Order: sequence, then C-alpha cells, then structure tokens
Amino acid sequence: MSHLRARISGIASAVPPDAVTNEDMRSFMETDPKWVLQRTGIRQRYWAREDAEVTTAGLGAEASRLAIERAGIRRDELDMIIFATLSPDAVYPGSGCFLQEHLGIEGIPAFDLRQQCAGFLYGLSMADLYVRAGQCRHVLLVGSEIQSKALDKSTRGRDVTVLFGDGAGAAVISAVEVQDADPRTSKESFLISHHLHADGKYATELMHRSPGTMNRIWNPDELVGAKESYPQMNGRLVFNHAVRRMPEVTLEALEANGLAPSDVDLFVLHQANKRINDKFAKAVGVEDEKVFSTIETYGNTTAATIPIGLDEARKQGRLERGMLVASAAFGAGFTWAASLYRW
Ligand code: ACO
Repeated sequence: MSHLRARISGIASAVPPDAVTNEDMRSFMETDPKWVLQRTGIRQRYWAREDAEVTTAGLGAEASRLAIERAGIRRDELDMIIFATLSPDAVYPGSGCFLQEHLGIEGIPAFDLRQQCAGFLYGLSMADLYVRAGQCRHVLLVGSEIQSKALDKSTRGRDVTVLFGDGAGAAVISAVEVQDADPRTSKESFLISHHLHADGKYATELMHRSPGTMNRIWNPDELVGAKESYPQMNGRLVFNHAVRRMPEVTLEALEANGLAPSDVDLFVLHQANKRINDKFAKAVGVEDEKVFSTIETYGNTTAATIPIGLDEARKQGRLERGMLVASAAFGAGFTWAASLYRW
C-alpha cells in the first residue's frame, strides 16, 4: 500500500554578490574582528550594496527559479507560495505577493510567515499539511532576508549588526507516494514530522519595534534613528534559551518517531553562533561533524538559514537522497521548532 506524503523535491539559494568580512566592518564601526570570530564563529556575511535595488522578494525569486528547475516542474504547476521573512519588501503587502509577481505566477495563494529564525520550519510544517491533505501538489517555500538595510551600522549596534547576513533559500515541497512510511525503516524521501513551539513572554527580548503599533503612532519621528528603530537583542538570554530549546525540540522529534540521535545522518540547524552548534552537538550526544555549519560564511540569515544550509550541504556532497536529516531553529518570539525528514 502506498502513502501520500510530501518531500523536498528542489532546493536552491542565492546571496548578494558582496561578502563583508569582520575586518571590512571596521570602516564604519568600532568592532574587533577577532572578538566576532571567537565569540560567534562568523568570518564574513553577504550584504546587498547600499545602493542596490535588490529586495527580499527579488532575492527570493532568484533562489526560487533554481529550486523550481531542480524540482523538475513548471512554475504553473505550483499550488501555493509560503514566504518566511523578518525583513519584508514593505510593511504590507506580504513579500509572497511580490515574489509571485517576480515569478509571473497568477492566482495561487501566497502568504507570509513571521516566525523569524524558525520561519522556514513553521513553513515546512504548513506545506507538509497542505500536501498531505491533498490540497496542493507543489508548494514553493521561501526564506529570504535583506537584513543589511535595517541594521544599525554605528558602533552602538555592533553587538547585533555583526551577526546578520542577507540571503535567500527556496524549497519546492511536492506530493510523493511512499511505499514504506515508517520513519524507522523507510529509506524513501519524505517529510516525517514537525514540532513547533512559541513563548511570547520573551517577545520583547529580541525585536525590531518601529514601525509598529507598540508606538504611539506607526513610525514616530522621535524613534527615527533611535536604537528602537533597529533590531535589539538580549544576546545572552537568547543564547541561553537557544542552547536549551534546540536540543530539547530535536530530541522531542526523534522520540516521537522512535528514533535516536545516532540515526540522524546530518543536522542542518539554524545558524546564529558556532558556540550554539557546538553546545547542541554535546547536548544531543553526536559528533561535531554531523552538525553542518554555514555560520562562518553566511552569518545569521534568519529565515533563509536552513534552506541555504541544505543547498550548501548538497553542493559540498554532504547531503544525499535517503539520508535522515534533522533541522532545528530558535529565534525571536521566542519561537523554536524541529523537523525530521528523509532527504
Ligand atoms: N566587537 C567587539 N566587541 C563587541 C562586539 C564587536 N562587534 N559586539 C559586542 N562586543 C562586546 C560587548 O560590548 C561586550 O562588552 P562589555 O563586556 O565591555 O560590555 C562584550 O563584547 C561581551 O558581550 P557579551 O554580551 O557578553 O557577549 P556574548 O559572549 O554573550 O556574545 C552574542 C554575544 C554573540 C550576541 C551571543 O550572546 C549570541 O550569540 N546570542 C544568541 C544570538 C541568537 O541566537 N539569535 C537568535 C536568532 S536571531 C532572530 O531570531 C532574529
């Protein structure tokens, strides 16, 4: 008997052309390149040029075209667009609609998710549900960020600004008939399960407040250029929660499917800090080599991080069909999630 499931049928990524090294950042703020490398593992990130006309949806479209081609489908076969970002093209409408226009697709539903670093995994769970319910055959899921335009590039913002990069990743999630849907025995390619969490008690610990209705008016003059008009983060608190929640939700996902950490072939995690990756490996009890790292090259690309990681692992020959992959993410909200899938 066959079972209707969803799989990632195509993956791709895109970044702006210019890499900005830790050293380069000294031209506009007081920052110590060694501190950044030692405390975060980041060597460089990609940033759009200040005068570039690239938008979040535009970069997402670059990755999407390639992901659609790799999935072996035509654009008009897509049934839905899910777009995850914290750096949208405009306050509204959603970037999914801008992306739709870039791709020249009409009529199918397009919506945005605002779950920041966990956005791709929240989107993956939704795409999976639509496919398994028989409502969609192909869903385009995009995580894309142009964060550089919203960062505080003065010394005041250095603790946040050095961490974030621009980038996009796109995945096509397609219906598949699998013969063996038991995650313990099957080697077929399909999405196994998703585990989502949020705790709004910490919403203000990592936030970009203005523009927004927390303010007296949408974007008050007194906040233009003030620190509240840039992303703010209680770094240590976020770090302490991330190193607890990411292993916890990964173990939850494995346990729900009767699997152990040693069954996983590759962990493709959200990337915020190399030290978080290392602590994750220790907490879950796996070798460091199984935890794929992109933080050195890309920095934290928020919703784009996991699909960029998958595409990068594919390019490096670290990802092959049939492998068991676990992804986990933690970020603003706080929101956190894990997904298990056979690649
Ligand atoms: N260059 C030199 N020094 C710096 C820099 C810099 N670029 N940035 C900060 N420092 C200084 C600070 O000013 C501070 O100096 P002080 O002690 O004199 O005040 C010092 O370095 C140490 O700061 P800490 O906060 O103690 O540094 P810590 O070791 O905690 O690392 C970091 C900070 C990297 C932000 C870490 O806390 C972290 O990675 N947090 C988690 C980030 C994360 O997971 N984000 C989630 C996803 S993001 C999202 O969802 C949008």
